[in-house]
Amino acid sequence: MIDVNKIRADFPILNRKVNGKPLVYFDNGATTQKPKQVIDAIVNYYSEHNANIHRGVHTLSREATELFEEARKTVSKFIGAEAEEIVFTAGTTDSINIVAAGLDLPVGSEIIITEMEHHSNILPWQLWCEKNEGKLKVIPVEVDGTLDIGLLESLITPQTKVLAVTHVSNTLGVINPVDALIKIAKQYGLIVLVDGAQSIPHMKIDVRELGADFYVFSGHKVYAPTGTGVLWMNKQWVGKLKLSRSGGGTIKTVSFDKTDYVEGALRYEPGTPNIEGVLGLASALKYVNEIGIEKIAKHEHTLLKYATERLNEIPEVEIYANHLEKAAVISFNVKGAHPFDVGTLLDKYGIAVRTGHHCTQPLMARYKIPGTVRASFAMYNTLEEINIFIEALQKSIKMLS
Ligand SMILES: Cc1ncc(COP(=O)(O)O)c(C=O)c1O
Repeated sequence: MIDVNKIRADFPILNRKVNGKPLVYFDNGATTQKPKQVIDAIVNYYSEHNANIHRGVHTLSREATELFEEARKTVSKFIGAEAEEIVFTAGTTDSINIVAAGLDLPVGSEIIITEMEHHSNILPWQLWCEKNEGKLKVIPVEVDGTLDIGLLESLITPQTKVLAVTHVSNTLGVINPVDALIKIAKQYGLIVLVDGAQSIPHMKIDVRELGADFYVFSGHKVYAPTGTGVLWMNKQWVGKLKLSRSGGGTIKTVSFDKTDYVEGALRYEPGTPNIEGVLGLASALKYVNEIGIEKIAKHEHTLLKYATERLNEIPEVEIYANHLEKAAVISFNVKGAHPFDVGTLLDKYGIAVRTGHHCTQPLMARYKIPGTVRASFAMYNTLEEINIFIEALQKSIKMLS
């Protein structure tokens, strides 16, 4: 069991009121709040160590470099990887763009994605296809929110080179059977990218067990600062993934005729990185480790189960992918009401939920809806908050009918 009250005390923003009511923050799928340990790591960096990294011989520069490279080790341990395989990026979107632009695929290649992908795991591949006469193929989503994984094999042809799939749907919360998908993809020699933006905060990740080529995530969805992200690549890719951007910090020697790049992950990190963000990310992952990801997952599952039961009691509510094997995300609609109206009324009660298409317009088209209301939970949420939410939702439904 986790001590939620103790955890809540670490998150200053949870004390604030919204529209005169205590904040109930259920928009964790969009971004999580930050504990004071993360905020302190940033303040400490600027108060004590601020300098550019990897370049200076002076004390501050050496300290900042050490902290930054320590952070790389912390991140690598968190996902069972090696430090050399970790590239710091600006987020999931940035990571996927680096991979899509860096794979040396033959013209006319086919990329398989799923119908539930976030736009960030569609558009970089779509761009690649537009430039290279490629083809995007899509595994459809069943009405219950599952993927028909049997279909994957029928989509694969000799031109198929990549499978890019989300581990957890940001809209539905559905946990995809990535193990099975990767197994099939690997039988056909496909390169596999797993979008971990919504799995990293909710479950233990071991990239070796996963068996993908790339696993990517954003720091801000796992209690770390915005503008931070990770591109994990299996070490066979380090050096092999083409550079799609370059600049200072990535090289051994430069002349106008030829440039030699460094061997490791640093070759993919041109320019001055988001140093304070990366230190905040390391601090966030340490925080998660101290509490324990399995314990967090258990707590979130209790919240998910309770919220699902309570929502299912309301006749006007329709939940999508209404089964319990999900990460801590519930998407629903109120019959006859626009999700924006529901979200706006809930905000009056201090409740933050997400409304809209959640950057998954093809999935919305599949369900023939403009959007959903999405409540997504984190380690600091409570059963009492769910009661407040249900009460406010019932009042909102009355107002809307
Ligand atoms: C599944 C998934 N993929 C990608 C992204 C994009 O993440 P970011 O905006 O941090 O790059 C998100 C963000 O909501 C997401 O949920």
